[in-house]
Amino acid sequence: MTFRPWRLLTLIMAIPLGLGALCLSFCFESPKFLANQGRTEDAIRILKKIRAINHGGDGQYPIKNMILDEEGNVAPRGRGPILRSIWSQTAPLFKPPLLWRTLQLYYLTAVLYSCNNSFMMWYPFITNAFFVAYGQGVTKINGLCQLVTAGISPAGLSANSTAEADTEVCRDYLEDLTIYSGIVLSILLTVVNLILAVFAKRRKGVMITVLLASSTAGVATNLVPEPFTAMLLFMVFLMVSMGIGILFTYYVDLYPTSYR
Ligand SMILES: *[C@@H]1O[C@H](CO)[C@@H](O)[C@H](O)[C@H]1NC(C)=O
Ligand SMILES: *[C@@H]1O[C@H](CO)[C@@H](O)[C@H](O)[C@H]1NC(C)=O
Repeated sequence: MTFRPWRLLTLIMAIPLGLGALCLSFCFESPKFLANQGRTEDAIRILKKIRAINHGGDGQYPIKNMILDEEGNVAPRGRGPILRSIWSQTAPLFKPPLLWRTLQLYYLTAVLYSCNNSFMMWYPFITNAFFVAYGQGVTKINGLCQLVTAGISPAGLSANSTAEADTEVCRDYLEDLTIYSGIVLSILLTVVNLILAVFAKRRKGVMITVLLASSTAGVATNLVPEPFTAMLLFMVFLMVSMGIGILFTYYVDLYPTSYR
């Protein structure tokens, strides 16, 4: 196996993921989930621990019982045939009264994932194309799409393109600048995420703002003639990923814990 840069990059990026998996085993189980399974005492014990960590010490915990504002557990783990368990946890999502919520959530999920995941994957390629075009002194483009086409076939942008335009050049190296721009995008997303966290209480407004900003930028990036602006707008478009986190909070809120 040859260690091309992308393999190495993937491996390095997998390390924090592995660490995260380890850390996860030290996390508390969700009290809401436990309560839903009828394990109220376990749930209260965990709430008590969380309170002790937040307030220091483990003084008196005033709460003795809890009532969950949602349907009770469907099938406790490990009992009954697995297919029946899957059915009883999933089927209610596609029947009234949950059906309408399911349609709304699935629609948003489809939109957010098809925008984020498909375009984020192209981000290194698009920045690469951008820097190649920039290196060639291209100052006027016909939207981001042309920039991408030019990245596949750099001759596409030059004056004497006729003969060369048909030859597709597959680059298997990344410009250093592409790596840096990836870092810049990650930092940018982190900052935006932190800012959005301040408005956590107004998540509906945040969600609408994110979607509007992203869709406007997505349309505009294909209309502007200037490569740099197109690239910036594309980065704003990628902010669509900020909506995914918010979307999941709606899943948690709108579905009873035992359905999935
Ligand atoms: C957005 O898409 C990228 C690339 O497919 C993926 O790695 C990333 O996890 C996605 N972001 C979210 C928040 O799901
Ligand atoms: C066009 O092609 C000629 C000859 O191959 C070359 O010298 C010239 O630099 C090219 N022009 C551009 C703008 O790439």
